[in-house]
Amino acid sequence: MSSPLIELRNIKKKYTTKAGDFPVLKGLNLDIEEGEFISIMGKSGSGKTTLLNILGLLDKFNEGEYIFRGEDITNFDENKKSDFRNRNIGFIFQQFHLIESLTIYQNIEIPLLYRSKESKEERKRKIKEKLSQVGLFEKRYSRPFELSGGQQQRIAIARALVTEPYLILADEPTGALDSETSEDIMELIKELNDDGKTIIMVTHDKDLRRYTTRDVFLKDGEFSEEETI
Ligand SMILES: Nc1ncnc2c1ncn2[C@@H]1O[C@H](COP(=O)(O)OP(=O)(O)OP(=O)(O)O)[C@@H](O)[C@H]1O
Ligand SMILES: [Mg+2]
Repeated sequence: MSSPLIELRNIKKKYTTKAGDFPVLKGLNLDIEEGEFISIMGKSGSGKTTLLNILGLLDKFNEGEYIFRGEDITNFDENKKSDFRNRNIGFIFQQFHLIESLTIYQNIEIPLLYRSKESKEERKRKIKEKLSQVGLFEKRYSRPFELSGGQQQRIAIARALVTEPYLILADEPTGALDSETSEDIMELIKELNDDGKTIIMVTHDKDLRRYTTRDVFLKDGEFSEEETI
C-alpha cells in the first residue's frame, strides 16, 4: 500500500510572547490520504490557522514530524521549503490575497515564474487552462478591484491550481463572501476534489460539512471527538 499524502506525528507548537509561552498544538497526529477533502473545525483561537500554516510550511513547529508523500520534510531549510511549497501546495485565503497592481493574468502567472524551466508559451497554456476552468478567461486583462469578491476568489483558486499541486490548503475560503457566492465557490472546490485533488479547509461553518469527506475538530490543542465549532 502506498503511504498517505500527509503524516503528522506528535506535532507541538507554542507561541512565545512577552507574557510567556502559549502552547497551541499539543501533540497532533493525523494521516491524510490522497483524494480526501478534510475540514478543520474548532472554536476561534483553537489553533486551526496555526495548523494550516504548519501544513503549508508557512510556520514552524517545535516538536514532531511532518511526512509528505513518504518524505520527512520536518527539517527542510527555508530554500527547500519555498521550493517544496511551490511544487506541492496551492493556497486559498479568506481575503483572496491577489496583487492589486497586476492583471488577473499576471497574478496567476506568479507561481510559474519561480520555475525557470517553463517557457512563456507553456505558462500561457497553463494560465488559459486554469482561467477557463474557473470560468473567467475573459477577465484576464482586468485588475482585482474590477472583480466581485466571488470572482476574485475564483482567480485565487486558478492561481492555486496553476502549478498542479498535490494539495490545496484553504483558510475560510468563503469567509468573506455572501451565502450564494459561498455556494458557488464551494461547488467549485468540490469539483476539484471530485477530480481527485486533496483539499484541507479551515472553516467555522458547519454547513460546509456537506462538501467534505472527513471533518476533524480541534479543542484545547488536541483533536477532539466532540464536534466543537
Ligand atoms: N503569532 C502569534 N503570536 C502569539 N500567539 C499567537 C500567534 N498566532 C496565533 N496565536 C494564538 O494562538 C492561538 C491559536 O490561533 P489561531 O490563529 O491558530 O486560531 P484559529 O483557530 O485559526 O482562530 P480563528 O477561528 O479566530 O481564526 C490563539 O490563542 C492566538 O491568540
Ligand atoms: Mg484562523
